Amino acid sequence: MAEISYRLTEIFNAIPTCEVFADIGCDHGYITQKMLQTGKCKKAIFSDISAKCLQKASELLKDYVEKNLAKGVVSNGFEKIEFCTCALIAGMGGEEIIEVLKKAKSLPYSLVLQPMKNCEKVRKTLIELGYKILKDYTFNEGKRFYDLIFCEKGEDSLTQEEIEFGRTNLTEKTLPFVNKIKLKINQYKKVIAEEKITNETKEKMLLEIERLEKYV
Ligand SMILES: C[S@@+](CC[C@H](N)C(=O)[O-])C[C@H]1O[C@@H](n2cnc3c(N)ncnc32)[C@H](O)[C@@H]1O
Repeated sequence: MAEISYRLTEIFNAIPTCEVFADIGCDHGYITQKMLQTGKCKKAIFSDISAKCLQKASELLKDYVEKNLAKGVVSNGFEKIEFCTCALIAGMGGEEIIEVLKKAKSLPYSLVLQPMKNCEKVRKTLIELGYKILKDYTFNEGKRFYDLIFCEKGEDSLTQEEIEFGRTNLTEKTLPFVNKIKLKINQYKKVIAEEKITNETKEKMLLEIERLEKYV
């Protein structure tokens, strides 16, 4: 089995065993390939808004397509996805993910999301759309930090802290999360040390450092 990157491995590990898996914005198609190779899903739909991107996945997955175990579609979000029980949307901005979710006529039972930014907005939207967040944590690949959310249909509510930091990060204080917060604190400290900011900004940064320090 071909090696996939650490980020893709983390994402793959977060996906539950499912009947019909949909990879929205699949690009290369590696996650779908691994889902099928490992038997973690029975069937897969891989889709991308770009025909050129989809072509890469179609080549990679052609054996599965021939066996009728996978189907590739050019689709804006869920537009052309007839049915799936679990969907992955990874590597897209949070606002794009929200748009995709809100435009969908129907959404799957479970979702795995890896937004590149605006994670807070994604969390709020998931609750509005009737999802329960089961895992929400930070991981890193080298110096880059990522957020990963796994949710299923169900009732839920989030505290302000959970919206900002992610539920699992708060309960488990994972090392990547602590390191991400430490990095933010150090960035503020560096700016303060450079002495190029107003006293008002400095005060705000010191307060923010104090607020963040309770998470490390
Ligand atoms: C940065 S790539 C991420 C690929 C892969 N999911 C990953 O995490 O490595 C983002 C992909 O999403 C696709 N995309 C962007 N907006 C989309 C939309 N509304 N519906 C489907 N695909 C979309 C892009 O064409 C691109 O191939």
